[in-house]
Amino acid sequence: MSGTNVICFANNKGGSGKSTTCSNIGYGLSVLGKKVLLVDGDMQLNLSLSLFEEDQVLDFARSEKNLYEGIRRQSDLTDFIVRSPFENLDLIPSSTLMCSIEYELFTKWQREYILKKCLANIMSSGEYDYILIDAPPTLGGWVMNILCASDAVIIPVESSPWGMFGLANMFEFLGEVRQIAPELQTGGVVITKVDTRKSYFRQTLDTLKELDGVKVFDTYIRVDSGVEWSQDNHVPIMAYRKNSRSAKEYMELTEEIVQRFEGGHGK
Ligand SMILES: Nc1ncnc2c1ncn2[C@@H]1O[C@H](COP(=O)(O)OP(=O)(O)OP(=O)(O)O)[C@@H](O)[C@H]1O
Ligand SMILES: [Mg+2]
Repeated sequence: MSGTNVICFANNKGGSGKSTTCSNIGYGLSVLGKKVLLVDGDMQLNLSLSLFEEDQVLDFARSEKNLYEGIRRQSDLTDFIVRSPFENLDLIPSSTLMCSIEYELFTKWQREYILKKCLANIMSSGEYDYILIDAPPTLGGWVMNILCASDAVIIPVESSPWGMFGLANMFEFLGEVRQIAPELQTGGVVITKVDTRKSYFRQTLDTLKELDGVKVFDTYIRVDSGVEWSQDNHVPIMAYRKNSRSAKEYMELTEEIVQRFEGGHGK
């Protein structure tokens, strides 16, 4: 059995912090000495942009070395991995053509499992401790693929009424996915972009506590303009401003995730 943990970051609510959480947890895990592969599953290219300059990301998108091409050709994704500027942190970049991925999947045999099959060699190589997949803000065949390829899903939510409304749709979709992927775990809900001065934050915590069987991470990520500056510089906040509040919060969240998936620091 492979020792690789595959975790995706998904929520159909746009802007809930999926890409920011995915990149920073990836970096946090790499700092803890874990070997990490990030997979950018979104045509917005945000995960790729969190590690590489625009020109480089657009080159990946124009080249044949991106996830869209890998999925379209049903190739072993090993050949699509690029090394990031950070130790222990690799990436499979995305392409703007990902907007037509649903069309590509439509005619394929066992179409919910294409990503899982394309990741199979990477999994069996045992090269990575973690594969983290960033999902787009949709619920359809492609996100189904991402969930079917994952051991667990982490759901970043924003503390807002519409954020909570979106969560209900997400859980309903997860129920459908579990009919074909019953082992998929709900790794947990992480509350992001929190402004503790706003009273709705308390309401969010109370609502989430009432959800049966759903783990809410103790660590929540507060709103911090440093996050945007770090993204402007294509560097995770934990590398850009190591001592900032959100860098510390992301490190705490990383430790919680390691605890949850390995029961401690593991390797
Ligand atoms: N802790 C934070 N403090 C301030 N801004 C943040 C924080 N986290 C995320 N953001 C900003 O919020 C916006 C949405 O974040 P992000 O792109 O990670 O969400 P997403 O769920 O991936 O969005 P999409 O659904 O479009 O893929 C981005 O502009 C990002 O810079
Ligand atoms: Mg995103």
